[in-house]
Amino acid sequence: MTKHIGILTAGGDSPGLNAAIRGVGKAAQSYYDMQIIGFRDGFRGLVENRTMALDGAVLSDILTRGGTILGTGRDKPNRMTVGGKTMDMTDVIVENYHARHLDALVCLGGGGTQKNALLLKEKGLNVITLPKTIDNDVSGTDVTFGYDTALGIATDAIDRLHSTAHSHHRIIVAEIMGHRSGWLALGAGIAGGADVILIPEIAYDVERIAEAIRMRVRSGKNFSIVAVSEGAMPIGVAEKFHQADAIKRAPKSKKEKKEAKKVLAQIEREHIDNTLSLSGKLEELTGLESRITILGHLQRGGTPSAADRILATRLGTACADLIDAGTYGVMVAARGEEAVAIPLEEVAGKKKLVPPNHAWIESARRVGTSFGD
Ligand code: F6P
Repeated sequence: MTKHIGILTAGGDSPGLNAAIRGVGKAAQSYYDMQIIGFRDGFRGLVENRTMALDGAVLSDILTRGGTILGTGRDKPNRMTVGGKTMDMTDVIVENYHARHLDALVCLGGGGTQKNALLLKEKGLNVITLPKTIDNDVSGTDVTFGYDTALGIATDAIDRLHSTAHSHHRIIVAEIMGHRSGWLALGAGIAGGADVILIPEIAYDVERIAEAIRMRVRSGKNFSIVAVSEGAMPIGVAEKFHQADAIKRAPKSKKEKKEAKKVLAQIEREHIDNTLSLSGKLEELTGLESRITILGHLQRGGTPSAADRILATRLGTACADLIDAGTYGVMVAARGEEAVAIPLEEVAGKKKLVPPNHAWIESARRVGTSFGD
């Protein structure tokens, strides 16, 4: 019997999503003779029954295109804003899934999407996910698609910042995305030869950073590049953050959870101009002029790299294989050259952070990079 599958992209977009849609879609249709339909704008499209036909012609010519042809959104099935109210829409999703006689729903997304997919699995849907995000922080997979492209963009930016920092004898602080993980800043910082790399996993002391920069000046290098992850925090703030985060994850009471959430929100608000204030402090402490460059969404845009196209195609076609075999409730993870099915329970709610003693960090320290610790 022909299988019917639905597919959606959720969370922030990332390069390689279209390559993955193509991988799933072409293998499902041409190889396995399944039928596939796309839902627009993440889980919201599934609630609102907004679809897109994904037959052969639509899947041609999208391999190299950035973004997602389906559109995406950060809506959660169980907490969706509808008519100004936050509503649990999971039952509507379940109804629409059955009304369309779907055999499987493929969700392409990051950490949040894995959690949402698990929720739908628990409601009895045949869900299967692929790991995408430029942050590379999805647990259970060696790498996520989108990461390699963003890494290339951020590295290129650091390369370019070098010559201008050098010419003006300045510090340039480059803010790199990554949410609460440092993979992107760490990778781009190493590849681009940043003098200081600051990541969320290693709390920093601004005085130590300044000392590293002053040491460079004493050795005749009167410019420095600081690659700072958007989630990197100074020591005192990091302590407060981790305390509140631990309480939020395992609260003793509702009140405690509410308090912890308040603290986290306050830290987040104050963190918004962290890069700006870091740059100002470094200027004061070193006597060098400092400038900032926030790479922002440039890192999510444009053509996916060759590595991301290959990864997305590998995982996408493996996803079609799993659907054909009737394997559901899993994320298709990259493990070496293999594509492995991991139960969603093992992935959802976990984040793959950079271990502070990771080999990349040790290598960077050996070439003289400061982590501000
Ligand atoms: O998860 C990808 C990511 O780009 C993070 O690095 C960043 O913190 C976040 O999304 C930005 O989200 P938005 O596009 O919603 O502003």
